[in-house]
Amino acid sequence: MTVSVVYWSGTGNTRAMAEAVAAGARSAGAKVDLLEVAAADPDSVLRAEAIALGCPAMGAEVLEESEMEPFVQRLESKGLGGKPLLLFGSYDWGDGQWLRDWEERMGKAGASLVSHDLKAHLEPGEQDIAALSEAGKKLAGSGQ
Ligand SMILES: Cc1cc2nc3c(=O)[nH]c(=O)nc-3n(C[C@H](O)[C@H](O)[C@H](O)COP(=O)(O)O)c2cc1C
Repeated sequence: MTVSVVYWSGTGNTRAMAEAVAAGARSAGAKVDLLEVAAADPDSVLRAEAIALGCPAMGAEVLEESEMEPFVQRLESKGLGGKPLLLFGSYDWGDGQWLRDWEERMGKAGASLVSHDLKAHLEPGEQDIAALSEAGKKLAGSGQ
């Protein structure tokens, strides 16, 4: 099982979440690529059997606009073809609208979402890390 974990993180909170997802997937035996979005190529990400994408709430309840938004648009234009997908991210003052909108978008692009509302308020705490690691395990088992 190959899993690609791609994230954008300005101050490290979403990066810590991505590391927990990757650790969970690895513990379930998956081969995991963990990449910052700036270093990720959409075609190679789509070759993975399962994908996790992380981005904090930015702007006004949107994805980060210079790197993550264009990357997500390229995935949407190629289509996700039923691929297992996990979305996550950190936020502060909002109520998670950016993540609900993102989940809806990726569902329309053909992704098969394996989790819902996987968000952490600012820096992920112990419970968040445990939930992210579980979600990574579930993602790694989703293609089997
Ligand atoms: C420019 C900017 C815009 C933000 N917009 C939102 C927002 O719309 N809603 C929200 O809940 N948090 C918002 N935040 C807070 C971030 O989502 C929060 O600080 C998060 O922990 C950052 O994650 P990171 O450490 O992975 O960059 C914003 C932060 C910045 C810097």
